[in-house]
Amino acid sequence: MNQWKINSWRDFKAKHVPTYKDAEKLRTTENTLKSFPPLVFAGEVRALKKNLSAVSEGNGFLLQGGDCAESFSEFNADNIRDTFRVLLQMAVILTSSTKLPVIKVGRMAGQFAKPRSSEFETINGQSFPSYAGDIINSIEFDSIKRAPDPDRMLTAYSQAASTLNLLRAFADGGYADLKHVQSWNMGFVKGGSQGERYGHLAEEIQKSLKFMEALGINSSNTPQLRSVKYYTSHEALLLPYEEALTRSDSTSGDTYNTSAHFLWIGDRTRFIDSAHIEFCRGIQNPIGIKCGPKTNTESLLKIIDTLNPLNESGKITLITRFGFEKVEQYLPKIIKELTKEGKSVIWSCDPMHGNTIKNKSGVKTRRFENILGEVKSNIEIHKAEGSHPGGIHLEMTGQNVTECTGGLDKISDSDLKDRYRTHCDPRLNANQAIELAFLIADSLRK
Ligand code: PEP
Ligand code: CO
Repeated sequence: MNQWKINSWRDFKAKHVPTYKDAEKLRTTENTLKSFPPLVFAGEVRALKKNLSAVSEGNGFLLQGGDCAESFSEFNADNIRDTFRVLLQMAVILTSSTKLPVIKVGRMAGQFAKPRSSEFETINGQSFPSYAGDIINSIEFDSIKRAPDPDRMLTAYSQAASTLNLLRAFADGGYADLKHVQSWNMGFVKGGSQGERYGHLAEEIQKSLKFMEALGINSSNTPQLRSVKYYTSHEALLLPYEEALTRSDSTSGDTYNTSAHFLWIGDRTRFIDSAHIEFCRGIQNPIGIKCGPKTNTESLLKIIDTLNPLNESGKITLITRFGFEKVEQYLPKIIKELTKEGKSVIWSCDPMHGNTIKNKSGVKTRRFENILGEVKSNIEIHKAEGSHPGGIHLEMTGQNVTECTGGLDKISDSDLKDRYRTHCDPRLNANQAIELAFLIADSLRK
């Protein structure tokens, strides 16, 4: 194998990385980013990997969720808080039923770049490059605004830094204290279809907290009650940005990507000789690999060996996204092969990307029952194969959007137009996300 260097990916096949017209401006931007402080620290990445190693052994559950694509226009404190809060609620629901620690990882603070199925979009006979995420170009359909612009990487860095700053404050500064478990049930969630069920669970937790308080265990003397560990993740797609934020750790001498704790390789950039795999094999961060119906098990095994030659546990998360109708056909075979080869991986289920449909009006949506269907099959398949259903990967928001149909609120096709705000794929809203967490918790408990 060639020697890995921070820029050795440039000699490989890079799909979905844009060509910037102004190469000089790109270089200047990359140098500016290289001079900026890291967003996350190596020690945090090592802590996450340790948590994930426990998950791979069946002693934890990975909850990963957030926007399909973060945007510059929807960036504000309320959005960040609401998604964080729903993830906390989901974690409480999952912990209480599985009795396992739930590792919380946001698709946040850097989830900006999108691989698109068509390079160009055509409207009324005009063709411009497809929208590829706010870090690359603008969603506005305009020849200048659709051109990839390196300056957008600087805006994305700044937004990621502010988002992370607020998330750290929420995680550590008192908001996430378990004694507030009842007050996370707020706004439209509280009055919605899941509010009551969550309220009962929160009451039970409060009773336990009172009992522990009587024994002298409380959030002032027990940090685990007072704060949560919260990690960030995104698809490692825009390699010039990722390279510029990759640094050598002064304590261990190892190389870490410091744009997020956890990075994943998408379904469209997961192939032998991919620049994205070449880049990811040199960094110490835990890596997710998306697997879909096009995944060839033989290539997947080679890719796993390339990314994790020492078969370190906690390093690789396989994020499977087959779709509810195909999961039975594909997942058992992959589990069998990997188990036979002794590969240590975390099995996480992404029930979103194999279940995207266009409705009669041509609007991209996902049906709640199909999402749930894939998760349930996933859990059953892992139980049958003796592997651990170790995680869930969701596109979701804390907002009251109408992007996915179904759920107890019975969002219909005609409701979609009301609050359809995503910049890319349809997300579960807060009620749907909490409903799903309860149903997953029920399935895992069985
Ligand atoms: C995504 O997670 O946003 C995505 C594009 O997924 P996939 O690579 O699985 O299609
Ligand atoms: Co998506």
